Amino acid sequence: MRQVVCKTSDVNPGEMQEARFGELPIVLCRTLEGKFYAFSNRCLHQGASLADGMLCGAPVPTDTPGEYRYEREGQILRCPWHGREFDVVNGGQMLADPARCLPRFQIEIEDDRVVVVR
Ligand code: FES
Repeated sequence: MRQVVCKTSDVNPGEMQEARFGELPIVLCRTLEGKFYAFSNRCLHQGASLADGMLCGAPVPTDTPGEYRYEREGQILRCPWHGREFDVVNGGQMLADPARCLPRFQIEIEDDRVVVVR
């Protein structure tokens, strides 16, 4: 199945948008680099709409024990209800439990159209 869900200009880099792929609610995420990713719009925890959360970064440990650096801006999808975080560019892995991943969808860009494929 292939479906055009929006134009590339509908989602600015660093933002996300809710969409439908057939009957399925999905969330489109666009990283600051401009690349699109699509996932189920239901959080794995209790089903919140992830599109109502935020695209942000995450603290990454430094060489100094106990010190962290904020990195990866626009690559982490944070759930609005209880803050579970998902790695957009690494298959939708839950940061706290990397064995769990959001169902994801393939994206193809055709001219100015964002096409979801499954
Ligand atoms: S519903 Fe997403 S963290 Fe609880």
